[in-house]
Amino acid sequence: MKNPTQTDAWGQLSSLSKKFNHADFRLSDLFEKEEDRFALFSQTHENLLLDYSKNFITREIMEALQELAKDMQLQEAIEAMFDGNIINLSEGQAALHTALRLPEGKNPHPEVIDCLNKMDSFVARIHSGEWRGHSGQKIRDIVNLGIGGSDLGPSFICDTLKDYSLNVVNIHFVSNIDPAHLDDTLENLNPETTLFIVASKSFKTLETHQNALTAREWILASSQNEVSIQKHFIAITKNLSAAKEFGIHEENLFPIWDWVGGRFSLWSAIGIPIALSIGMAQFKELLSGAHSMDIHFRNTPFNKNLPVIMAMLAIWYRCFFNARSSAIIPYSERLKKLPIYLQQLYMESLGKNITNEGEAVSTSTAEILWGTVGTDSQHSYFQLLHQGTEFVPIDFIAVAEPATQGFNAKERHQHLLSNCFSQSLALMKGSLKNKSTHEFVAGNKTSNTLLLKKLNPYNIGNLIALYEHKIFVQSVIWNINAFDQWGVELGKMLSTQLFNGLNSDIKGKKIDSSTKNLIEFVKVNGQ
Ligand code: F6P
Repeated sequence: MKNPTQTDAWGQLSSLSKKFNHADFRLSDLFEKEEDRFALFSQTHENLLLDYSKNFITREIMEALQELAKDMQLQEAIEAMFDGNIINLSEGQAALHTALRLPEGKNPHPEVIDCLNKMDSFVARIHSGEWRGHSGQKIRDIVNLGIGGSDLGPSFICDTLKDYSLNVVNIHFVSNIDPAHLDDTLENLNPETTLFIVASKSFKTLETHQNALTAREWILASSQNEVSIQKHFIAITKNLSAAKEFGIHEENLFPIWDWVGGRFSLWSAIGIPIALSIGMAQFKELLSGAHSMDIHFRNTPFNKNLPVIMAMLAIWYRCFFNARSSAIIPYSERLKKLPIYLQQLYMESLGKNITNEGEAVSTSTAEILWGTVGTDSQHSYFQLLHQGTEFVPIDFIAVAEPATQGFNAKERHQHLLSNCFSQSLALMKGSLKNKSTHEFVAGNKTSNTLLLKKLNPYNIGNLIALYEHKIFVQSVIWNINAFDQWGVELGKMLSTQLFNGLNSDIKGKKIDSSTKNLIEFVKVNGQ
């Protein structure tokens, strides 16, 4: 079965969705009717609790959603992914990021273990000070040059696990081609004590490549010696020849394989900045947490399977309620970068309008994903969520244990959590007291709440793998490829053409008047 809209379950869901459009429907009434609604619609896995009771669902709806998953042969698709079958059809590749977190001894991919061992010895050499820069000094600053999946994952995790940092080296992330990004970063660094990681699977991405070339000049200006490149650069890439040509020593190259997608790569050597921050032992904890979610995803019946539940709810709102966006709102300063990280994972994976067979999809695919940290978000866009005209399903994410131990941290943390819980409550219940029409808050807004016991590498591994698999499930139901990104490739190609335009005479060139005049404006004003 390849078209979800042709399934019996789809028809059933379509008629079940109608009852939520009635004016007299109240989400909060469902709690009155079913006292054990939380027990019915919540699920734990290790240190993670998902409360999905504040959704437009009944037992019948959840069963129909599971039927849809079965009709779309979800279990078979899960097995195909874990078995390393070619599931990224447009690129003829497997998607085996789960193999990166298989424990040693159970891992049939010796190259993964070899890479972890190589990372281990590299991290040890940096931490011990055995690795020296060109003037014989220890490395104090690490600059990761990468973009997209070669930046967002490690940067998000380093922030999130700040409290686990060993604080041996300072870690910086430079992604943007805007010169201000690299220039600002280098301003306070010393080339003699700085090491660059060129994180680029292709070693061709414009931003990373240009930044790496500039960094190279910056090192050479200090060392006056080409050999110094070997002491100040490592690379994570599958394009070994380009990295060697750049001057990086073979021993300082870390592999990444075709079967690891950029946005699923933080578990590979792309995670080196994480390992440098928290140490290899904690990096392996991160992998273990993800692996535990892999096992849960592969072996748990759909009605108790966290990624499946979350994915089917997303499909429910996108396809049957036309939710045009959804929000990720972490009530945790440490998880501030989670929404940005998930934006790439979700939208680059599911922003597709063509099925695996190359036909136009018959239903909407991914909605726009956005979000920022709570409670700040309450004082910016929550007004729209409460009284605007958009329907926005939300994932609230919070942590039971405070991340820090400062003055009154426990009490302040309790304020944080009570704000989180009161928002989902207010969104659901609204305020129907008709004092004035302006004070009327309709309520009936849905949300999930994900609670973690504690922010630690293991639990974060668990959480990210949960979202990875949720996305995969959605791709299976929509019959689209979660692992390619042809649209992004088009933008990359055009930017090279226009760069050439900025540097040459474009008069007489066949180019639209809008683009032509933008280029002219920069030529006149941008010197
Ligand atoms: O943004 C497009 C993309 O291809 C992402 O999928 C990828 O994470 C990023 O570019 C970086 O690619 P690379 O690691 O090859 O530099």
